[in-house]
Amino acid sequence: MSTDLDINLSKGGCCKTQALWQDLPGGIRLPRVGLGTWSLRGKACESAVLSALELGYRLLDTASFYHNEREIGQALAHSEIKRSEIFVTTKLYPDEYGHAAAAIDAALDRLKLDYVDMLMLHHPAGNDVQAWSAVEQAVKSGKARVGGISCYYERELSTFLPKVRLQPVLVQNEIHPFYQDRETVRFIQSKGLVVQSWYPLGGRGHTRRLLEHPVITAIAGAHQVTAAQVILRWDLQHGVCVIPGSADPEHQAQNLQLFHFALSENEMDQIDALERREKHDWY
Ligand SMILES: NC(=O)c1ccc[n+]([C@@H]2O[C@H](COP(=O)([O-])OP(=O)(O)OC[C@H]3O[C@@H](n4cnc5c(N)ncnc54)[C@H](OP(=O)(O)O)[C@@H]3O)[C@@H](O)[C@H]2O)c1
Repeated sequence: MSTDLDINLSKGGCCKTQALWQDLPGGIRLPRVGLGTWSLRGKACESAVLSALELGYRLLDTASFYHNEREIGQALAHSEIKRSEIFVTTKLYPDEYGHAAAAIDAALDRLKLDYVDMLMLHHPAGNDVQAWSAVEQAVKSGKARVGGISCYYERELSTFLPKVRLQPVLVQNEIHPFYQDRETVRFIQSKGLVVQSWYPLGGRGHTRRLLEHPVITAIAGAHQVTAAQVILRWDLQHGVCVIPGSADPEHQAQNLQLFHFALSENEMDQIDALERREKHDWY
């Protein structure tokens, strides 16, 4: 089965330091694989980010709620990679929506950055449209390059999207083989928005059941890759970008090496059949 990823790959779209990209409006390129940083804190966070950048990661996903924007900023300051080559996402939490403009400035201050690449709303809320106007303003003034939203499903999207002028370019939702939510993914993609998966490996405390699932391990064995690589590749072949979290350089390296193999239609179908509608978080 040939996918757009394979076509990109054959055009030389991937090398050691460059994961494949998803084109966003305005000529902006989003790495399809990034580092999730939820639960990474302090020195461990800084060294995880530095090792990821060294391995070739070019997307870092953080949020004010993760309480690690300062550490991410420290790592960026210590990295030799140019700021312009790194895609930084941060998110405003609903308790910041009432003073979103000030919260954006505070996030930039913690990150020690002039701009973030993507500014997201972390969750739907009664005043999310009001908060979004601060995101629009941040994009206009160059404090953010694009806006995105997180934890929005069909009902929330149908309420939110018609009310905002600047469309979000991406929706970040829980997606893994036990919670695939294909209808929502198709709905988002049909609007021309990018889907990015959080908890791609099921989330901490749940990864084992996924990584040891016999369907996944059999496919991994057939391709001589790991179970994590199979799951992440499955996402990419569904057109879903991924931000696996890891503090372990070996895991980080694996999670970036997704472009030298492809799952067959039959293997994709086998993983699709694992859907249980089993959400691992409430939002
Ligand atoms: N928007 C939202 O509401 C929302 C919610 C949750 C999460 N997120 C974002 O999504 C990111 C991903 O979620 P997550 O980090 O919580 O969960 P995850 O990526 O599904 O799983 C992370 C867990 O998998 C392990 N792991 C990673 N790579 C592995 C590999 N190759 N082999 C074996 N184990 C591996 C990690 O351990 P090691 O450290 O040992 O590798 C860690 O325990 C977060 O970091 C955050 O940025 C967003």
